[in-house]
Amino acid sequence: MNRDPSIMSAGSEEHPPLGGAVDGEHHEVDSAAAAHDRAFDHTPESALKVHEAAAANRARFHLFANAPEDIQTRLAQSRKAMKLVFRNLHYQVPITLPPESTKTFVDRYIVEPLRSLLPEGLSQRTYGWVELLHGVSGVVRPGEFCAILGGSGAGKTTLLNAIAGRSMLPPSEGSVTFNGRTRTHATRRLIGYVMQDDVFLSNLTVEQTLRFTASIRLPRTMTREEKRRRVDEVLHSLNLDKARNTIIGDQQFNKGISGGERKRANIAETLLTNPSLLLLDEPTSGLDSTTALSVVRLLKDLALSEGRTVVATVHQPSSVMWSEFDKVLLLADGSTVYFGPASEATAYFERQGFRLPYGYNPADYLLDLLVSGLESGGRMTEERWRSVPERVRREARRMFGKGGASGSLDVSDEDDEKSASVYSELTASMVLRAAWCLNEAEMMSAERAAYESRAREYSTIARAAAASNRDRARAAVAAELSDGGTFVERHGAEKDGDDDEDEVGEQYTEHKYAVSWYEQFRALALRAILQSGSSFFTWVTLSQAIAVSLLALFVWVGSPDDESGIYPRLGLVFFTGIFWSFTVLYSSITSFPMERAVLNKDRSAGSYMLSAYFLAKTSIESPMQLVYPYMFTLIVYFSANLKRTASAFFLFAVLLSMQVMVAQSLGYWLSSMVMDFAQLAVMAALWMVGTILVAGFFIPISKMHVWFRWIRYVSFVYYGYNGFIINEFQDSTYACEDNGAGGGGVQSKSYPSCAESPPQPVTSQEIFRAYNVDTTFGIGGCIGMLIMFMVVMRIFAYLSLKYVQGVRK
Ligand SMILES: Nc1ncnc2c1ncn2[C@@H]1O[C@H](COP(=O)(O)OP(=O)(O)O)[C@@H](O)[C@H]1O
Ligand SMILES: [Mg+2]
Repeated sequence: MNRDPSIMSAGSEEHPPLGGAVDGEHHEVDSAAAAHDRAFDHTPESALKVHEAAAANRARFHLFANAPEDIQTRLAQSRKAMKLVFRNLHYQVPITLPPESTKTFVDRYIVEPLRSLLPEGLSQRTYGWVELLHGVSGVVRPGEFCAILGGSGAGKTTLLNAIAGRSMLPPSEGSVTFNGRTRTHATRRLIGYVMQDDVFLSNLTVEQTLRFTASIRLPRTMTREEKRRRVDEVLHSLNLDKARNTIIGDQQFNKGISGGERKRANIAETLLTNPSLLLLDEPTSGLDSTTALSVVRLLKDLALSEGRTVVATVHQPSSVMWSEFDKVLLLADGSTVYFGPASEATAYFERQGFRLPYGYNPADYLLDLLVSGLESGGRMTEERWRSVPERVRREARRMFGKGGASGSLDVSDEDDEKSASVYSELTASMVLRAAWCLNEAEMMSAERAAYESRAREYSTIARAAAASNRDRARAAVAAELSDGGTFVERHGAEKDGDDDEDEVGEQYTEHKYAVSWYEQFRALALRAILQSGSSFFTWVTLSQAIAVSLLALFVWVGSPDDESGIYPRLGLVFFTGIFWSFTVLYSSITSFPMERAVLNKDRSAGSYMLSAYFLAKTSIESPMQLVYPYMFTLIVYFSANLKRTASAFFLFAVLLSMQVMVAQSLGYWLSSMVMDFAQLAVMAALWMVGTILVAGFFIPISKMHVWFRWIRYVSFVYYGYNGFIINEFQDSTYACEDNGAGGGGVQSKSYPSCAESPPQPVTSQEIFRAYNVDTTFGIGGCIGMLIMFMVVMRIFAYLSLKYVQGVRK
């Protein structure tokens, strides 16, 4: 280390500034933050001993012990120990629904329905804020397993989201740091977050899902074979061997793996990415007790023997699980009730007057206390109230008593005597919140005092050592060592604030993503083939395509070659265009919203670039969507007697493809703006009906009101339809029907040539005129316009994915 120690400590939150004059105000801030962290970073001797003992005993199943040496080394290199600090986190959410009483008739029936049609981001109005977290703090070090406990609705998920940076809004106050720095793109990839509601693509098997994640998230230095081996290990270690070839399925129609397997698959997917910080939301809920315990042990093992930082919310921990936790964070209504070593929790609660009854599971006892408002263990009784230390009683009454915060500070004990029921308006959780506030303040002031005395000491050392560079460096090392930080922390803290991005591990220094754009594209394309392939090509869709082809065949078979065949041909090309546009549009709006959840999950984990995803998905799905329309064309084109030239057939196929792809693009665009399927269906239907009505089949353009005629230019069906007609009729002539034979006479009058005597064949010009076909574009123009629609809509879709409802970085 040949760096100037004074620079070295500049960006550090851990160490007091060395040497030189200390800017007073700056020092204030620094020391407050450092004292805060230190107060919460309390790892007792006893816990360290447990650590050591357990580290020695690695007989328990060990996740990557079987991996060959080289893979282990490479994985270790790509990971970095991560110290998590969250400091005084406050989190607020806006209230977006107006109070019922203030709603007017207009609000209820006009404003709200209209607003719900807008994309979510634009439609909200804020009526106030609710605070869900009230200043939660904690420090979790590499190798530690911290459990977040609390009743349902306590704010556990909210807290995890805030730590992971997945919440809708940033915390309103407080900070989350990783090795002393805020979240960057690179740190994001070192965080594994196992969400409570796991989202997967339903048509992939467990193994395919993990393969995909491995190919995209494991470092580019690993070969495919190595990645595959790693998938096998993770599958094995999570006991998923049996389910590896089962599709994941969704919980409604397409049943796949069981709930417990889903949960484990979710953990497996996250583990695979080799995170330094592992956040898990209720990984044990819904599992049987044995599996739950084995999951907890696995997590503990990941922390202990692999140096990861693990934070998990745990539902109903058993006593055995409790003993696996290094630290616990107990939450009640968004406030901390206890944060610290699990082993010291019962002693702490005893000091506050809540003694664990003999033989009780600490977790059960504490959670029972904390579920407030129920007629449960959370009620205060006189006996309990008496055992609470006096200062805590006073604080609790100050914070929550009648008169609330405005209540006088000098609530004396005499008041207690007078009104025997003071405690009745308080619950155990309120008392414990008050107790923690006091405790926090004490810890902080003690730490702060200690910190300041150390700071003075160090600056003396530094000044003394300023004589020579060598001495100075030595003093810095001495200072750091005496500071008690571990190697990792020193290194984490030693970085300066400027080189913000990508200081995390060698693997990531030059690359924002684990693998190159091309690799991402390849893996995503493969995944799209698996996912979309199995939802596009099912028995249902195949039967639909065959049935419609046959119906069209029966209706249009052998259309006559003379004048009477003109109208059926128009009908056929119109039907072909709109039927397939509708089908493809609906198929894309039904499949996309489900995938959006997965996309958001992957993107917020920093897995791949949106452009790689979007291009892979669209370039795989477009040809897939064309299979059935082409099948239809083959069946119907010749039997309906459409024009028998190679170029006409080819152009028909091109026009149909383009129209289908525009419909698909429209589907992408709409579903990238709106998540809700009901809204999507309405928007898509309206859009399609609008485009169809103005396309010219139902009402000739010349009969439309002049104000609305322009609409046809934004209707893609119009270009498709026009193109089809020009393609079919140009350069052809149709003999007039024999007028004497009755029936057809009415139509014949629309063509002047037939009215002549003797009747002349109907020319294409006459047909175009009769049906108001605009030939100025020509077939090429129509195809060009369709291509333009396709490109523009896809760009809109991409942009709105990226910006309108984009995942926050
Ligand atoms: N976006 C939101 N708007 C309003 N209230 C919310 C929102 N998100 C969560 N909450 C409320 O905050 C509380 C904590 O939620 P959560 O963190 O999910 O609890 P849990 O501890 O069960 O995971 C709950 O009472 C929940 O109803
Ligand atoms: Mg939750």
